[in-house]
Parts: sequence; structure tokens; C-alpha cells
Amino acid sequence: MNAACIIVGVLLCVGVAVAKDNLRVAYEWREMDFQYDSPDQRWSAIERGAFKPANVIPFGLEVYRQRLFVTLPRWRDGVPASLAYLDLNDTSSKMPALRPFPSWVSHSLSDADPELVSPFRIKADRCGRLWVLDSRIAGVLEQTKLYGPAQLLIYDLHNDDLLRRHVLPASQAKHSSFFANLAIEDADCENTYAYAADLGSPGLVVYSWRDQESWRVQHHFFHPDPLAGNFSINGIEFQWDDGLYGLALSKPQSDGYSTLYFHPLSSTMEFSVKTSVLRNKTLATSAAIYRDFKILGSRGMDAQAGAQFLDADTGVLFYTLPNLNSLGCWQTSKSYNVQDRVYSNNNSFVFPSDIKVDEERRLWVLANQLQNFIYDELYPGSINFRIYMAHVKDALEHTTCAPDKSLPELIGKLGEVLRTNIQLETTTAKDSNSAATALTLSLGALLLTCSWLL
Ligand SMILES: *[C@@H]1O[C@H](CO)[C@@H](O)[C@H](O)[C@H]1NC(C)=O
Ligand SMILES: *[C@@H]1O[C@H](CO)[C@@H](O)[C@H](O)[C@H]1NC(C)=O
Ligand SMILES: *[C@@H]1O[C@H](CO)[C@@H](O)[C@H](O)[C@H]1NC(C)=O
Ligand SMILES: *[C@@H]1O[C@H](CO)[C@@H](O)[C@H](O)[C@H]1NC(C)=O
Repeated sequence: MNAACIIVGVLLCVGVAVAKDNLRVAYEWREMDFQYDSPDQRWSAIERGAFKPANVIPFGLEVYRQRLFVTLPRWRDGVPASLAYLDLNDTSSKMPALRPFPSWVSHSLSDADPELVSPFRIKADRCGRLWVLDSRIAGVLEQTKLYGPAQLLIYDLHNDDLLRRHVLPASQAKHSSFFANLAIEDADCENTYAYAADLGSPGLVVYSWRDQESWRVQHHFFHPDPLAGNFSINGIEFQWDDGLYGLALSKPQSDGYSTLYFHPLSSTMEFSVKTSVLRNKTLATSAAIYRDFKILGSRGMDAQAGAQFLDADTGVLFYTLPNLNSLGCWQTSKSYNVQDRVYSNNNSFVFPSDIKVDEERRLWVLANQLQNFIYDELYPGSINFRIYMAHVKDALEHTTCAPDKSLPELIGKLGEVLRTNIQLETTTAKDSNSAATALTLSLGALLLTCSWLL
């Protein structure tokens, strides 16, 4: 009986120990590849230098229905398409070749005014539109070429048609502007708002779908912290002074407005502001809003955060921690001091670059070793890019971010353990042939279960 109790106890403990490690690699690549119409076309693109596999790095990610989209910014030349997708239905390979989105021609730079130049971030909304934030800056690591101010492109994901193109007015794209992050407030499909973060000339551009116009918001909280620019990732040290970066929206509150959580990249602080302030153009562009911005707190040493995403169902803010090879989480209903880690891995989870939660409650994270790509080199013989996946519920298991267990869930868990126990019981009962032993065993397991659940 005691032995069996211990077995149950051990099983439960093992469950606890491994649960914090439950992101798994869904896709991984040494180098990115594309699905050309024929092998000849692929070789010809490589020969012409239109496709240089070593220069292609995935950066932003989004999942909508059966497609997983990635952005492939043009840091260097030889990127044949800067936005592409893979088919989640096709499970034949863990290293699938990508298809350009929406088409090859949309990516042609020989065009006087190319449709897409170098997007960093994308977001699919609940209305079936894909919002693309295109920096329109190519070759930042070589010969920089500007194709114009940053733009928002909005595609219809039912047929991949371009619905709208909003080029930022010159007054909203400054001399050193660099737009690399995007959040979409889509509670109302007709009155949707986009928020685009400028890291280079710290600021936030708000775009109204209904009014088809944008405005630029300034605040000191968008600026980098001069004392938080040190980065050190797997032996590569560098300094960045990047401003406004990670953006995440809460679900709408009773007044219909969300809270925008945000942070600069070179900073360990987190801030927030209500979108009621940002969505009113008159108010948002006036100095009166200064005190409407809130300081949440600091994540501590080395905890500069990159991309972030708020899962509306659980209220959990997920954020990447590039310096710590980790994915962090914060339950927004708790104090900002209570943070936790969902996942860490010093070997494979290197430079987590983007996070999303899709309609099916799956959490996706892309890690791309960006620091090696920029400051060293990526070895084509090893796995360089990985996309991790886990169901939100599993990812949060045994973190302080998990929502408090509801009574039905507790009862469900109890049922699970009791079922396991009944199996154990049958085997034990066979040996000892004693109903009393089985009963005590059940009670022992029940007590263990209760102490584990509470
Ligand atoms: C994927 O499969 C689902 C159902 O299994 C189907 O409805 C959908 O059209 C497929 N998607 C693609 C892109 O093939
Ligand atoms: C940045 O790192 C260097 C060493 O890598 C250290 O000497 C310096 O004090 C650090 N600066 C700050 C502001 O932390
Ligand atoms: C926007 O803000 C201004 C200034 O505070 C205010 O006068 C105006 O009523 C607001 N507009 C709306 C639509 O709330
Ligand atoms: C990763 O490396 C850091 C610093 O070298 C170390 O403190 C940390 O424990 C490591 N994390 C894991 C999960 O091995």
C-alpha cells in the first residue's frame, strides 16, 4: 500500500517537474527555403543572386486558420519574398519551404513602387484581415535603401486581396524612424485601430480603419533607458538604444476600450495607457495626455523584453526575454512584481523574436538567433530557426500566470487522478486480493491529490 502511494506521489511530482518545459518545436530550419514554381526557377533565382539563403531570416509570425505566416525582413539582399507562409495542414515536413504572400509579384523590387518591401510584424484580426507593417527600409545591414515612409497593408485573408494601403504621412515618419511592432484593436471590425511602434524615433502611430487616417503620439515612456542598452546573448555582446518596441492589447473593458501595454526594447520597464486616450486624435496629439500613461514596474536585471502578446482569454501577457533565452509571463490581474517564466533554453531558445496566440488557443513562438545573424554568422549546418508551439493552458501550467483553477476544473483533475488510481488499484488488488487495501490506497491518493491541487 505504501509503495503504491509513493508511486502515485512520484507520478504527480514528475508531472510538476516537467510541466514548465512544455513548448515543443513545431518547425525548424537550417536555412529558409521557398516553393518556386519549378526547381529551375529556384536555381535561376540563386544564380542571379535574387535568392541568397544565408541572408533570409524569419522575424515576425502569425497564425490564421490553416496558415502560418512569417515576415522575412530584407536586412541584406537576396530575400526573394519578405512575407511568406506555410500550410499547417501539410505535416510532411518539419522544415517546409515557404510560399510567398500574397504572390511573387507583390515582392518584386524592380517595380517603381513595390507593394511590399521589408515588413517586420504582421497581425491577423478577428475579422479575417491580415495587417502588415512594412518598414519599407531594405538592406539595413548593408546598403540601406528607403522606398518611402513606412506603410500599413491590409489584406483580406479569404482571398488574399489587398484591401487597403496606408502610407504614413511624412510628418509621422521621422528621420530615424523604424517601425517594427504592431498591435490591432479589432473588437469592432468597422472601427478597428492599428498601433505601430517607432523604435528609431520613439513614438506611436495610431491608425483608424474607419476614418482612414493616422496620427502620431509622443511620450517620454517611449524612449530607451540609456542604462539598459547592454545586451549579452550566448557570448555576443552589443549595445542597442531602441525605443518603443513591444505592444500588447488587453481585451476591451466595459467602456469598450482596451489597455495598451508597452515597453521600449532598451529598457526593463513596462508601461500602459488606455486606448481611449490614443483613439481620440485631438487628445492623443496634445500634451494633456502626459499623466494618462502608467508605470507598471521593472522586470529586473537583464530582463529587457522584445515582442509581447496578451492572451485575452486568460489575461496573460507573454513576452520574450532575448538576454535570458526565455519566454516570460505576467498575469495582468496580479501585481507586476509577480512574473514567471514559461520556457527557457540556452541552446535552442536563442533570440525569441515573436509570439502569438491563435484562435485555437495555441501559443506560437519564433526563435531566430538574430544576434548571430547581425554580429556573427549563422552556420547552415545547424538548426538556426525554430517555431515552438504549446496550448496556452499547458504553457501556463505551474506558473504564477495560470488563471486560478475553477471548481469544475479541480473536479476534473480529481477525476483524472482517481481514474489512474483505480487502474493501480486493480493491479494491487489482484496481488493482495484485499478490498481494504484498495480502499486505503484510494484515500491515500485522494489526500495526495488534494495537497497537490491546493
Ligand atoms: C486544411 O484542412 C482543413 C480541414 O481539415 C480544410 O478545411 C482546409 O481547407 C485546409 N487548408 C488548406 C490551406 O489546405
Ligand atoms: C555594460 O556592460 C559592460 C561590460 O560588458 C560594463 O562594463 C558596463 O558597466 C555595462 N553598462 C551598464 C550601463 O550596465
Ligand atoms: C476628444 O478629446 C477632446 C479633448 O479632451 C474632447 O474635447 C473631445 O470631446 C473628445 N472627443 C471624443 C469623441 O471623445
Ligand atoms: C542559461 O545561462 C545562464 C547564464 O549563463 C544561466 O544563469 C542559466 O541558469 C542558464 N539557463 C538554463 C535553463 O540552463
